[in-house]
Parts: sequence; C-alpha cells; structure tokens
Amino acid sequence: MSLFELALASRANAYAPYSGFRVGAAIRCADGTLHGGCNVENVAYPEGTCAEAGAIAAMVLAGGREIAEVLVVADGPEPVTPCGGCRQKLAEFASAGTPVILADLAGERARTTVGALLPGAFALSHLGRADG
Ligand code: THU
Repeated sequence: MSLFELALASRANAYAPYSGFRVGAAIRCADGTLHGGCNVENVAYPEGTCAEAGAIAAMVLAGGREIAEVLVVADGPEPVTPCGGCRQKLAEFASAGTPVILADLAGERARTTVGALLPGAFALSHLGRADG
C-alpha cells in the first residue's frame, strides 16, 4: 500500500460531523513502516484532533520515532497544509528537510517540507539544557 493509498483509506474513516471536512494523513517512518490517521472531531469543538495527530500517535504507539515522509489528503479547492499545531507536532519527530506531500483525492498536488512549513520552530535547543 502506498502512502497515498493509506492516507485515502484513513480519510474514509474520518469522524467530521461538524465541519464535514474529512482529512487523512499517512506517515512513512524511518523504519519503513506506514501509519495512518484521520481527523476526529468533538461536539466540544476544540477537543477535535487532526489527521496528522492521529498518524503521529499511531507511529509512536508502534515504536516509531522518526518521520521520513508525511502525506495529507483532503478534498478542497487547494491542497490542504497541516495546521500550525500539527506543524509543531510533526517537527517533534521530523527534520527540517522531511517531505510533506499535499494531496487531493486524485493524488499528489504539491510538495513542501517540515522546515518550510515551520521556520524557526521551537526546539529542544531553546530550552537551554545541556541535552538540547
Ligand atoms: N484538519 C486536519 O485534520 N488536518 C489538517 O491538516 C487541517 C485540518 C481537520 C481539523 C478539522 O476536523 C477539519 O479538518 C476542519 O478544520
């Protein structure tokens, strides 16, 4: 299964009764495994979670710690980019050059990187600790 196929299949299970906007995400981990996620909304709107967050959680649950590539799929007038919070969540497990593929239902529409989406990301080095 390709990254796009997994993201599309994940999107099919999205729970988005409030926005009606279904999103799927898929991560290829550095160890070669693939992990999908979908958005899960909540009647208390701020409690909803994005597709990217679900895919990250699935990767971490499986023991993965390094994102090699991530793909986001939605059905909109323009390619959907990860929200600000998800950019920070992705940066936790990715490097600046990690590819982020933006897709619609027909396939890849655009390509960017975690670093381009989140320049000046808050990082461990900002904590000023010896291990940072
Ligand atoms: N959403 C995602 O899941 N990922 C994104 O990259 C952008 C937005 C979700 C959140 C919410 O459930 C719906 O899309 C509309 O904002």
